Formats: sequence, structure tokens, C-alpha cells
Amino acid sequence: MIIAANFKTNHTRKSTKEYMAKLNSFVTELKSDDTVLVFPPSTALDSFDLNDKISVGVQNAYPSVNGSFTGEIGLEQIEEFTLKTILIGHSERRHVLGESQAEVAKKYEFYKAKGFLIVYCIGEPKEVREQGVESVIEYNFSQLDGIDINYENLIVAYEPVWAIGTGLTASNEQIEETLGLLKQKIKAPLLYGGSVKVANVKEIYEIPNCEGVLVGTASWDVDSFCKMVEIAKV
Ligand code: 13P
Repeated sequence: MIIAANFKTNHTRKSTKEYMAKLNSFVTELKSDDTVLVFPPSTALDSFDLNDKISVGVQNAYPSVNGSFTGEIGLEQIEEFTLKTILIGHSERRHVLGESQAEVAKKYEFYKAKGFLIVYCIGEPKEVREQGVESVIEYNFSQLDGIDINYENLIVAYEPVWAIGTGLTASNEQIEETLGLLKQKIKAPLLYGGSVKVANVKEIYEIPNCEGVLVGTASWDVDSFCKMVEIAKV
């Protein structure tokens, strides 16, 4: 399994350091074989001393080594900490911050060329889900425009927008059906994200074609995230 924590705009440099230390001890003691990814805010990025099962990544970055892009970070800032993992296309960047598919694809190309592990997010809004599964698949596939889905270091996270931060998880049947259809095109590992928590993570891990989870809210508490890593261990 792949268990990923997206801090979004939560945690400070200090609390992230404490979080990583706790998570590292837990994963080391557990002897977990699963892959654990953590995406802290940019201000908390660092060279953490971690078990090789855990990687830290960035939630976003500009497709440039450096330059005049106020408020953004680029490759140079990421490489300072020898990080090589990035989240691209998160729905909050697309829908709240207005990132277009063309911009998302540009980031993808840039960080792919640098060999990054890319967790690439797709997911439909509520009105598309209401139109039925065909529209859902069409919408999700449109979010693959300009994306090389055969890239070897790709993980795709299916996160329906209506299930993010709402407490509303897609039903297991909806997740199974959607991941099954996505899998016909995408050979990369598929994650599910959207109101995943300790109480529902086990059944989500068991869904066919689900190779892990991308967790927001429930990952912000380190004990809760550790529990999800523990549940993944078979
Ligand atoms: P929640 O787990 O808070 O619904 O967020 C999911 C998410 O957006 C992870 O990237």
C-alpha cells in the first residue's frame, strides 16, 4: 500500500519536525513494508532523517529551476533538501487557485524530466458525479490531457472533489467502479482520497485496484496517520 498525508495549509515547521520524528519511530518499529509519503507545507520542508519507507514531498512547485515567480518555489528550493516527490494537480489547486490543465501539464512535464515521483491528482466535482459514471470517467480522463501516463514514477490519486474535506466519502461501490474504469487506461498505482479516516481506511484498502490512500484532514494528527499505516500492514 501507499499511504500519503497531505498537510495542505496546516502544521508549522516546528510541529512538522515533531510529526516526522514520531512517524519515523512508528514506521521503523512497525517494520512496515508499505510506502509512506508526507506532503508538508513549503515552509516546513527539510532534510528529515527518515526510514527508507518514508518520503517527504512538495504539495506544489513552479516548473522552473528558479526565477521571478513571486510566491512560488522551484527545483532549486526543493533540491536543497534532496526531495524528489511532488503532488501535482490537486483539486484545491485546480478549483480554488484556478490552475488550468495546461499549467498542470507543464508542471508534470518539468518534474517528470527531473525524475520526480509524481502523485498526480484527478477527480470530478459533484455536478459531474450526478450525471453518472460515464461523465465521471470522461471528466477524469480530460484531466490526463498532456500527461504522460506511462511515466514510470507516477502514482495517480483519484479524489472526487465532492468528497474532499466534506466528511462525505464516496461509497465503496463508487470507488470500486471508478478505479476499475480508470485502471483500464492507467497502469500506474491508483490511490483513493476524500474523507479517508481511521474508521473507513481498512475497507478502502480492500477495494480492488486501490493501492493506497491520499489523506488530508485525518492525516494531520500523527497518531491517526500512524494508525492508518498500521492498518495497511498485512
Ligand atoms: P480530506 O481527507 O480532508 O477529505 O482531503 C483529501 C485530500 O484532498 C487529500 O489530498
